[in-house]
Amino acid sequence: CGIAGYIGYRDAYPIVVNGLKRLEYRGYDSAGILMYNEGVHISKTKGKVADLEASIAAEDAKIGTLGFGHTRWATHGEPNDENAHPHVSNSGDLVIIHNGIIENYDTIKKELINRGYTFKSDTDTEVLVNLIEEIQKTNKVKLGKAVQLALNEVIGAYAIAVFDKNKPNELVVARLGSPIAIGIGENNSEFFVASDASPFIEYTKNAIYLEDEEMAVIRVGKKIKTRKLSDDSLVDHDIHELKMNLEQIEKGGYDHFMLKEIYEQPHAITDTFRGRLLVNEGIIRMAGIDDHIEKFQNANRIIVVACGTSWHAGLVGEYLFEDLARIPVEVEYASEFRYRNPIITEKDVVIAISQSGETADTLAAIKLAKEKGAFVFGVCNVVGSSIARETHAGAYTHAGPEIGVASTKAFTTQITLLSLIALKLGKANGNLSHGQYHAYLNEMELIPRKVEVLLSMNELVQHVASIYKDVPNCLYLGRGYNFPVALEGALKLKEISYIHAEGYPAAEMKHGPIALIDENMPVIVIATSKGHYEKVVSNIQEIKSRKGKIIAIVTEGDTQVKEIADHVIEIPETDELFTPLLTTIPLQLLSYHIAVMLGKNVDQPRNLAKSVTVE
Ligand code: G6P
Repeated sequence: CGIAGYIGYRDAYPIVVNGLKRLEYRGYDSAGILMYNEGVHISKTKGKVADLEASIAAEDAKIGTLGFGHTRWATHGEPNDENAHPHVSNSGDLVIIHNGIIENYDTIKKELINRGYTFKSDTDTEVLVNLIEEIQKTNKVKLGKAVQLALNEVIGAYAIAVFDKNKPNELVVARLGSPIAIGIGENNSEFFVASDASPFIEYTKNAIYLEDEEMAVIRVGKKIKTRKLSDDSLVDHDIHELKMNLEQIEKGGYDHFMLKEIYEQPHAITDTFRGRLLVNEGIIRMAGIDDHIEKFQNANRIIVVACGTSWHAGLVGEYLFEDLARIPVEVEYASEFRYRNPIITEKDVVIAISQSGETADTLAAIKLAKEKGAFVFGVCNVVGSSIARETHAGAYTHAGPEIGVASTKAFTTQITLLSLIALKLGKANGNLSHGQYHAYLNEMELIPRKVEVLLSMNELVQHVASIYKDVPNCLYLGRGYNFPVALEGALKLKEISYIHAEGYPAAEMKHGPIALIDENMPVIVIATSKGHYEKVVSNIQEIKSRKGKIIAIVTEGDTQVKEIADHVIEIPETDELFTPLLTTIPLQLLSYHIAVMLGKNVDQPRNLAKSVTVE
């Protein structure tokens, strides 16, 4: 989600609306705005910021020198008018916008209902604004203090802006996990608040960025005071001078969206399992599965339908479901499935995977499966997308908007979600021992940190890229869980660098691709310690004896492959089933750097589209 706000002497409306448009890369399911002029005016609607503008007829709702707005990427509650932000407290005095998730909102909501509060939406945000109101009333404290106390009660992630109509010269903002930049006008005559600096770059170059667990009370004419949420102590912030242009800012300082999205993966993976993976309780909570668990348990087989990168995630899913839950799986290209008169029965469960939720072939495959009586489960990133609506049940990956055409964080979050489902079914089927299941849950929680370790090897990967950037061909090999990663690695290279690349199961190399190997052929081999290690080492030797160049992805501490390979990239130790989440990262970086070095358009490669809505 994105937030943008203004308080000062200018007309707030155009600043907020244009600011929100610049933040639409952060989500665009619904939008809303608060304007204050001797009264609170709130407008909100499902859809984009342009829909919001079109929906505001009353001139009053556009007037005023204080306003803030929100563009939403739905998490709790479907994208509709009611669930759109801002949200108002029961008394009508407090107004809030919020990015992020309040995990314990259910408990707080019950408590507030007991105290007589009522709710109009399904959102966690409406719970938060009423909690602030309740604290303000019972403790007789100012808004800033009430926000601080409320945030100490919630668990989750947030960037919020709160307004109290009894204090129309003031805004309170706070962050934990979601960014907030505050733009500062000359002599503190005006302030801007936003998820990044893009909404105010043309008005001021001076900004401060709140750190996690900090809040600020913003008053026109006064120097900003930032405080720690935990103990109310003052924090000194340097004022940054913004040097970036607009486009750079939307990319969060990265040169390309693809790189930004690669770096977002630790966060995105955490967002996928947030509120679902409850390690202490030993539970995986997913309503979409829980409500239909018998469909999965009684399934003859699972058929995965998808395209492109999502199809590769589906292949990882095949290993996961068969391994952990012992349910037979078939993975189908949606385009093939829909046209070959497939055998589907009511005892089949179809899982459709799609980042955009709009891919035409996948959508058609779903319709066909439904006609034949199968139960269809969707794994989508875009909330409220066609596939999310068309399926019987589903789960969102919550990766946040993916803009680079070459899919990166969508892939790892799809695998994360499929792992959660497979573990959940494995447990339900009695197929995983108690100890094993708990060990997997523990390990899963460590994955984002391990992805960070891999991201810190960026320079090493860049160096490897500089050596091989001019090759015409490239081969990717992997086995087991990492065979789909080899396919995905090759796809990434093809898509953005236009170098011909092929992914193969390592042992199949001898049935064809080995003929291509000579001293000019780089072969990227995934040779992690668990999963057919010795066999892959033999394959590496076969490449070596034909003078191929070997770039190996190994587990830390490896000695055998290190001796033979030309380059090694080490991944942290993990269970075999989680290795795709790690081995994928250096392959994404490798393609990225090669494409950049070749001067290609990384984010919008030729001939491709982010969302293919034609067959
Ligand atoms: C396009 C994109 C790919 C994506 C595929 C499937 O080809 O360029 O990156 O993997 O569509 O898209 P979906 O949104 O269904 O995951």
